[in-house]
Amino acid sequence: MHSFHYVGRQLHCEGCALDSLVAQFGSPLYVYSQSTLEDHFSKLDRALAPLDHLICFAMKSNSNLAVLRTLGNLGSGFDTVSAGEIQRAIAAGADPAKCVFAGVGKTRDEIAYALEVGIYCFNVESEAELKRISEIAVERKQIAPVAVRVNPNVDAHTHAKITTGTYENKFGIAFEEIEKIYTRAAKLPNLRLRGLQMHIGSQLTSVEPFRQAVEKVVPLVDRLNRKHGFDFFSIGGGIGIVYKPALESGAAGWWETAEGRKVLTPQLFADTLIPLLRPLGLKILLEPGRYITGNAGALVTRVEYLKKTGKKHFVIVDAAMNDLIRPAFYDSYHEIVPIAKKGGATVSSDVVGPICESGDYFAKDRPLPKVGEGDYLALLSAGAYGSVMGSNYNTRSLTAEVLVKGDKASLVRRRQVLSDIWRDESVAPWQAKK
Ligand code: LLP
Repeated sequence: MHSFHYVGRQLHCEGCALDSLVAQFGSPLYVYSQSTLEDHFSKLDRALAPLDHLICFAMKSNSNLAVLRTLGNLGSGFDTVSAGEIQRAIAAGADPAKCVFAGVGKTRDEIAYALEVGIYCFNVESEAELKRISEIAVERKQIAPVAVRVNPNVDAHTHAKITTGTYENKFGIAFEEIEKIYTRAAKLPNLRLRGLQMHIGSQLTSVEPFRQAVEKVVPLVDRLNRKHGFDFFSIGGGIGIVYKPALESGAAGWWETAEGRKVLTPQLFADTLIPLLRPLGLKILLEPGRYITGNAGALVTRVEYLKKTGKKHFVIVDAAMNDLIRPAFYDSYHEIVPIAKKGGATVSSDVVGPICESGDYFAKDRPLPKVGEGDYLALLSAGAYGSVMGSNYNTRSLTAEVLVKGDKASLVRRRQVLSDIWRDESVAPWQAKK
């Protein structure tokens, strides 16, 4: 489903023209489509209907309360990675009993908090962490539900910074070690060995690595389940999206690259994995983030200046790497389109932000329609790992966020007031102004 589309010459999100949204809420502006969020969640949920399953939305991809509320209302659980995310999920109305808590570095306070609110399970990444959770559970006279994260050592063939399933990175416990760890964990007090978890990487656009990993890990889950009596097996997140679709190709274009190459659909994902997973007879958990939020959001930005240097044509915009760091960090591609459609020839352009770093760019040598000062551009597929990775670098405000549903739009995060950025700072007592 494609909720960013032109109506006449005006780019819309659902029934709202983006130019009216920036007129009302200012620029830069994140815009999210509630219908797209709902559509993506429901497509995956329906495709998995033959399995007893729970989708735990990976809220690290987009944790705006309105996004969480949308998904929570559809029955989603949440994959959290900090006490902050658990608190945030609860603030959005989530049931902690549907939250899993992952991450390699859980602190004592975070573990105690998660036990206090009663999360569904800890996804545990090391033996030291198992011991720590057990100790805290004993102190608190509680039973802690745990699942160990197995590293299946399957190469997901994705960007080096977001691959996680091989032994070259810090995540999980080696496949060969897992059974021994569970045997030792069974002897630790106050733990309930509730399941097994895996995650092989992010932005996977082929089902093959998922199939390989699930095929490899299912027999292990089966053996462990017989010994320890599991409730679930979590197959993690990682379903990739199309960042380079043909915007004009309409509803079906969602799953097609500009070159017409088909990628991973929820149905293909489900059809491939259900036959492998069903014989386990366990609840299957999933932790999708990007698949749900990625194409549901755009970052709208105003063209401030045009500048020619040598052969380069720079389009300087008011958004920057502090608002959307993915191009600078991962060299990632985001489709850029004008919010008022332009005809005529394209110009090879570098779209850059105002921050004092040459890494502050959104596109290089991109053929773009000719734009002028005051025009607006939309950076598409910015709903995942966009706003959440924002920072105050260069003392720039965190961007405002708007949720759209049909012809309604609501400000779901106000633009940060500048003085709030240094509100918690102070000078030292000996630094009287001279
Ligand atoms: N589960 C675990 C254990 C994870 O580490 C992640 C993502 C997910 C689930 C959700 O993955 P997804 O379905 O969204 O692919 N900032 C990077 C992506 C980092 C992904 C980190 N882990 C980016 O902008 O591409």
